[in-house]
Amino acid sequence: MSDAPQISPETVAEAVDAALAAFAAATDTAALKAARAAHTAEGSPLARLNASLRDVAPEQKAEFGKLVGQARGRVNQALAAREGELAEAETAARLEAERVDITALAQHARVGARHPVALLQEEIADIFVGMGWEIAEGPELEHEWYNFDALNFDADHPARQEQDTFYVDPVSRHLVLRTHTSPVQVRSMLERELPIYVLCPGRVYRTDEFDATHLPVFTQFEGLVVDKGITMANLKGTLDHVARQLFGPEAKTRFRTNFFPFTEPSAELDLWHPTFKGGARWIEWGGCGMVNPNVLRAAGIDPDVYSGFAFGMGVERAVMFRSDVQDMRDMAEGDVRFSEQFGMVV
Ligand code: DAH
Repeated sequence: MSDAPQISPETVAEAVDAALAAFAAATDTAALKAARAAHTAEGSPLARLNASLRDVAPEQKAEFGKLVGQARGRVNQALAAREGELAEAETAARLEAERVDITALAQHARVGARHPVALLQEEIADIFVGMGWEIAEGPELEHEWYNFDALNFDADHPARQEQDTFYVDPVSRHLVLRTHTSPVQVRSMLERELPIYVLCPGRVYRTDEFDATHLPVFTQFEGLVVDKGITMANLKGTLDHVARQLFGPEAKTRFRTNFFPFTEPSAELDLWHPTFKGGARWIEWGGCGMVNPNVLRAAGIDPDVYSGFAFGMGVERAVMFRSDVQDMRDMAEGDVRFSEQFGMVV
């Protein structure tokens, strides 16, 4: 006779209860695996009760067989249910732990870059400050008198027409978006003591098309000197110095006669660019001349005692031929990848 346990409703119920309690107590799949081995595998109370069926009297076999069979069925069902619960809980916990918040802001901060126009403007200002000049500024929304009249423009000068100038409503107020930095010459002469050595950098506006070589908003730098005994030789020497500082020791300037209402004589200013991408060459850069006596008079300066020179150049144009930029629009679009190419100078 084996030591097999006696089958009875009590012993079977006891084995079932112990199994169900162990499954419920298992809090992870590893613990459940151990409980399963202890309560369903060979050697477990239920398996042993099952084995005892061999020894049961034939007339009780059907009844006890059913009892043990149902008990095993219940235990297996409870086991499967608990396995499902734990697997689900573990998946949920893992998903929670590995959660990625796709709405969160990226942690890295983008590094910006200074704009080449701002960099060149500063470089130019440094050259003039190095010569002892002062920086002068004026408003971008300017009175027509400063922008045109005081600069000796005729009432019917073509630049006054709407095709070049942004007039500001109401027209009766005579306000314009300044078309050049030259009005700062007049403001400087009215506000400052003589002698005057000023550089006037700033933004100007014209009703030009937005294309590869024109921007309706661009940057100029204007120079003005008013002192005793100033001649065109001083103008030429100053501009040659600036050219060499910006374009290397081989650079120089050349004058071609021209007309501007506010200078007499006036000249178109060309720059000899020794390191130009397509080969050294002359490039048209701006205008200059000796301050017209009418302009000195408009600012209350006696042209018999004082004389002066003035010049005006475009900064975007200089960035183009200095750094081989093909399309001026790149300078207006504000794409940091464009500015990054000019170095991260702060
Ligand atoms: N204001 C002129 C322009 O925008 C440039 C210019 C020419 C400025 C001659 C000057 C000058 O000071 O003397 O086209």
